[in-house]
Amino acid sequence: MIINQINNQIRFIDYIETYKKKYDKIFLLTQKSIIQHYPFMERLDINILICREKEACKSIEEYETIIKKLATKHCNKKSLIMGMGGGAITDLSGFVASSYMRGIKHVLIPTTLLGMVDASIGGKTALNVNNVRNLIGCFYNPTEVLLYFDFLQTLNQKEMCNGYAEIIKYALILDYKLFELLETNIALLIKSVNIETLKPIIQICIQHKLNVVKDDQFDDNYRMILNFGHTVGHALESYYNYKLSHGQAIIYGMEISSYLSFKEGLLNNNQYNRIESLIRQFNLPKLKNINIKKIKDLINNDKKNIHNKLNYIMLTNIGEAKIAKNYSKEKILDALQIL
Ligand SMILES: NC(=O)c1ccc[n+]([C@@H]2O[C@H](COP(=O)([O-])OP(=O)(O)OC[C@H]3O[C@@H](n4cnc5c(N)ncnc54)[C@H](O)[C@@H]3O)[C@@H](O)[C@H]2O)c1
Repeated sequence: MIINQINNQIRFIDYIETYKKKYDKIFLLTQKSIIQHYPFMERLDINILICREKEACKSIEEYETIIKKLATKHCNKKSLIMGMGGGAITDLSGFVASSYMRGIKHVLIPTTLLGMVDASIGGKTALNVNNVRNLIGCFYNPTEVLLYFDFLQTLNQKEMCNGYAEIIKYALILDYKLFELLETNIALLIKSVNIETLKPIIQICIQHKLNVVKDDQFDDNYRMILNFGHTVGHALESYYNYKLSHGQAIIYGMEISSYLSFKEGLLNNNQYNRIESLIRQFNLPKLKNINIKKIKDLINNDKKNIHNKLNYIMLTNIGEAKIAKNYSKEKILDALQIL
């Protein structure tokens, strides 16, 4: 898989033109809420398939609709599927590309911060079924990921925060220097998108994800550390019926993991305080009256549990993490009172 960066619109258009020479047809899966900001895309003379908005595009019905459209338009083994969007579109387009005619070439163009630092890297594709997220999917790497950072200019603050949460995760589990960089820059970044500050940060995060995935492509072991903050985060997202953003939920989840790491003596007071003050920059509200029993059920149902035992990711330093096997769910539930 190649990762390429494009710095301006003209080069971006040229790049797509080169694909047109290489493949007999190009099918670009995207959403109206994205392409409306980039009308130049509609002048590119490629097949643009507009998918349902947000998570609704990751449904079996949408998958079937897209497959039928591809067949009607004679998409074949020499065609190229492109997914241009956030993680929802790249998950869908990856699954479409992996299964159409048993797999055709696939290029991803992530347009959200989360898409750039996380979803477009690592080869996971997915659809949601019966309200269960990512129930169906497979590992299918794109041939190329095309990064055009200017897409971030049209992203709202909430979507940017979803990406910042993942960036903080990489810093906490893998990279002390990145943590320091965030300590200096996060407050300004939360206020306004600054592409020049973000570029190196995105590149660092992509490299971290590539390194982790290289060691555990099929998510059997070490890749689990990327789950830091996600045990509680996923439970909270589900508990609040996805009205809590993914980023917020993961930040709360990382807060709990950091607190428990401190309580267990893995982090010292100073390290914990620094993490806390980084997280405080997001100004998240206090969560009131959480029903602990419901959160417990949600944690018990987490797909990552093995034999009902929880692998919980904890910090041993800022920039270092470990997998705590069969960690106490009771301790996690008790810790929820800090939120
Ligand atoms: N495959 C993986 O490894 C992986 C990893 C993390 C998350 N995911 C998946 O990613 C999805 C979440 O991704 P997301 O956070 O990118 O959200 P998303 O794909 O739902 O996009 C968020 C919203 O932003 C809009 N949008 C996207 N780019 C835009 C732009 N440049 N300008 C304006 N609007 C834009 C979208 O239309 C959508 O409404 C979830 O489905 C999750 O399961 C996958």
